[in-house]
Amino acid sequence: MALHIKEYVSLAEYTTFKIGGNARFFCIADSEEALAEAITYAKKNDLPVFVLGGGSNILVSDEGFPGLVIKIEIEGIEFEENGDDVTASVGAGVNWDFFVEECVVRGVFGVENLSLIPGTVGAAPVQNIGAYGAEVRETIKSVHALNRITLERKVFSNPECVFSYRDSFFKKAEGKNFIITRVVFSLKKNSSLNTAYKDIAEYYARNPEHPKTLRGVRDAVVTIRTKKLPDLEKFGTAGSFFKNPIVGRKHYESLKEKYPDIPSYAVDGESVKIPLAWVLDNVCGFKGYRKDNVGVYQNQALVLVNFGNGTSAQIDTLAKEMMRAVKAKTNIEIEPEVHYVN
Ligand code: EPU
Repeated sequence: MALHIKEYVSLAEYTTFKIGGNARFFCIADSEEALAEAITYAKKNDLPVFVLGGGSNILVSDEGFPGLVIKIEIEGIEFEENGDDVTASVGAGVNWDFFVEECVVRGVFGVENLSLIPGTVGAAPVQNIGAYGAEVRETIKSVHALNRITLERKVFSNPECVFSYRDSFFKKAEGKNFIITRVVFSLKKNSSLNTAYKDIAEYYARNPEHPKTLRGVRDAVVTIRTKKLPDLEKFGTAGSFFKNPIVGRKHYESLKEKYPDIPSYAVDGESVKIPLAWVLDNVCGFKGYRKDNVGVYQNQALVLVNFGNGTSAQIDTLAKEMMRAVKAKTNIEIEPEVHYVN
């Protein structure tokens, strides 16, 4: 198999932020074998490797990446039905929303609330993508990966992925040695719908005739997301830029005293998740804030946007300003959800 390695490829075009310098070397891996070959090439030439999926959750430095960027394009979706149980084995390079649509077409429940999330199937377990009361970990049976050090294959069961809010084993130092090649999902036919999340519940309350079906929920989520989140055709963005912070109960109570309207979600008896968008909007006044060519999206304060010709440095400066403001007003240390590549 001939590995086709390009040089000086602009990464801005491969990211939804539309930001980033060149990859010194760049190649596409459309199979596990091609991926192993690319890694071997990088090893021989002593190059650092960055694995690219849909480029929808990364901020690439203006200086680009000095090593080999491998774009995963492993395709294929195989469904297997056994009564009400459905298993789907999906290539890491498959577009996430394409997979969700395939499930809805087949009447398969489990990922419909995660409609329209940008990115690839292989990236979904890494940050345990979540939206509208669902997280991908609820449907993952196993994750197939290639160890980039030993070139061995490994299959991780769901518990071995150590999923938590926007986090997994694949984000930890040891986990970063693994490149995801395939994800196996455990889904259902004839299951129930999850319409309890505030935005979806409100949508159904406003549109009582809207069908309470798989297709109906997917359409509702698409409508809600389209209203709140920027159109990727018009803006550069990576969606939520920060994670929603989890604070101790005492800390939350002191915030509640100062800001009686602050929303919250109980995580457990000890800790509380605070919707950072609310803080950025109502406490810090960042919604619609613009600085240079970048800014805070007018309909969702957790989302940073590139209005065109924005740079990685400009996003970073804005993000740091927001982190300082949140710390000063609420004593919360926030962290980016977006992955920095440099
Ligand atoms: N809010 C404001 N101002 C705003 C936006 C929101 O006050 O500008 C308030 C809302 O009224 C709501 C709360 O903040 O009470 C939470 O807002 P929302 O439901 O929009 O969700 P979020 O916590 O900001 C998370 C995910 C999104 C996901 C939505 C919907 C994270 C980091 N983000 O956002 O994921 O789509 O929930 O479930 O957990 C992403 O990861 O890129 C992403 C977009």
